[in-house]
Amino acid sequence: MVKVKTPKTRQELIKLFVDFYKDKNHKHIPSSSLIPENDPTVLFTTAGMHPLVPYLTGTPHPLKTKRLVNVQKCIRTVDIDEVGDKTHHTFFEMLGKWSLGDYWKEEAIKNTLEFQTQFLGIPLENYAVTCFAGNKDAPKDTESQKIWLSLGIPKSRIAFLKDNWWGPAGNTGPCGPDTEQFFYTGEKAPKSFDPEDDKWVEFGNDVLMQYIKSPSGKYLKAPQQNIDFGGGVERTLAILNGLDDHYQTSVFLPMIKEIESISKKPYKKNEKVMRIIADHIKAATFILGDEKSISPSNEGQGYVLRRLIRRAIRYGKLLGIDEPFISKVAKTVLPIYPDYQELKRNHKFIVEQLDLEEQRFSQTLEKGLSMFNKLSSDSLISGKEAFLLFQSYGFPIEMTEELANEKSISIDLEEYNKEFKKHQDLSRTSSAGQFKSGLADDSEATKKLHTATHLLNQALRVVLKNKDIKQKGSNINPERLRFDFNFERKLTNEEKSKIELEINRQIKKALKVTMSEMPLKSALSSGAQAEFGAKYPDIVSVYTIGPEAKPYSKEICTGPHVENTSEIGKFKIKKEESVAAGIRRIKAVVE
Ligand code: ALA
Repeated sequence: MVKVKTPKTRQELIKLFVDFYKDKNHKHIPSSSLIPENDPTVLFTTAGMHPLVPYLTGTPHPLKTKRLVNVQKCIRTVDIDEVGDKTHHTFFEMLGKWSLGDYWKEEAIKNTLEFQTQFLGIPLENYAVTCFAGNKDAPKDTESQKIWLSLGIPKSRIAFLKDNWWGPAGNTGPCGPDTEQFFYTGEKAPKSFDPEDDKWVEFGNDVLMQYIKSPSGKYLKAPQQNIDFGGGVERTLAILNGLDDHYQTSVFLPMIKEIESISKKPYKKNEKVMRIIADHIKAATFILGDEKSISPSNEGQGYVLRRLIRRAIRYGKLLGIDEPFISKVAKTVLPIYPDYQELKRNHKFIVEQLDLEEQRFSQTLEKGLSMFNKLSSDSLISGKEAFLLFQSYGFPIEMTEELANEKSISIDLEEYNKEFKKHQDLSRTSSAGQFKSGLADDSEATKKLHTATHLLNQALRVVLKNKDIKQKGSNINPERLRFDFNFERKLTNEEKSKIELEINRQIKKALKVTMSEMPLKSALSSGAQAEFGAKYPDIVSVYTIGPEAKPYSKEICTGPHVENTSEIGKFKIKKEESVAAGIRRIKAVVE
């Protein structure tokens, strides 16, 4: 079978890709959250690999399959300063195909080529690939070269590069050499591939995962060989439609049109500014639309969200927009992505939060800019001054840096960081109740709720007599815990009381809470609970509640926890609701 027509929309492209791999016995899984669970080293999911790490390291997939196909929503903030050109954006979608210890290079490469040339219709004249050149950790990948040659790719279009390596997604974990596919966007492709010629655009990548990077930085041979193919949706759409500017493809065009209409200015003369606005609002919409209820704040993901929104507001001002506009542009995102139900479900929250943040920042932006102008009459902005801009005018430090760059002046960042830390320590001791972000803090209240969450996790399985219940998400702040789990229906009042009773009984028993560190594998084989889809490091800490020989609960977790359940107080469920098909959410407190 051969593809019929060039996909114009992301939906058409995605359908073509997913159907192709479903035909080849891959099971389709939905995109995971943008916010990785249980991985404090990364703020956002940057590739399809994050949520799949357990299955890439040997845990059997719950769908009982070794072949997956998916489209993962991702955010890469490393590129935030590049945004404004034709091809960079912070939010993107990645087409993914996965062999979890199943087929290897030959089948992976054969399928990739078949899909790209026969289904997407990319002519071989415009096609080139790269393979890993080898280094001290791993040998040159001549095997992949042989496979490409056997499939008709000429030698002159296969380059060996040192950079062809991908992963691990965090500091440690599965990784390996990769083989990448390129498309020539110029008039007539030269006979030989030249990695320096940027008319060759990379649009696909098969990672040949066969190593595990250890905590000490060694590359060990992995017991399981995997394939991780990734293809950027935006890039692929752009090249297939003959566009060199991603912002002119159907995944950005409605946003650009709305910005043109609000600002009454043409895109042609304002490309950089409009691209930044479109990109940042799209990313902010997806962060707010995720099920994790992230809102703008000064910490973690909330801070990135704040930066994105505030930067979009500032660029809107540069464009001469003098009315609230952020949520108007955000509303154009939804019809581009009708398949993300969470965007629909959280529509109200998205709009409210964007409006609120825009209101907050608009009040101080003008005054902050005049303050900045005053301060920048010197050639250096001191750390204290930059901190004043942050604290009193809400300027994220990155914005002050950007403004300073535009004027070619410097900022004393070291002093700024000292000021920031001093202020943070002060507010931390003054009131634990200020931490509303849900990110780790170690107040007494949080510790109690952490341990209570473990009791709840187990109590659900006990009371509902269903050992397949698993944690699907968790968020704790000093006021309450929030726990998501798989279950088909609403809990009855009787069940809720039974759960409370069961937990309060364990609290009264004054069970000891102990922690031990062990390799992930041993933790899982000892029966420790792990969150579905979460990525864990190679060495994990396991918290046990109750006697080691017959514990009430055993869970992989980074803590912090109380030492004894008697410290928790009384457990009370405040709310039980649905968050997605088959997923329930409990909010509870301890009193
Ligand atoms: N995970 C690989 C990438 O991001 C496919 O390129």
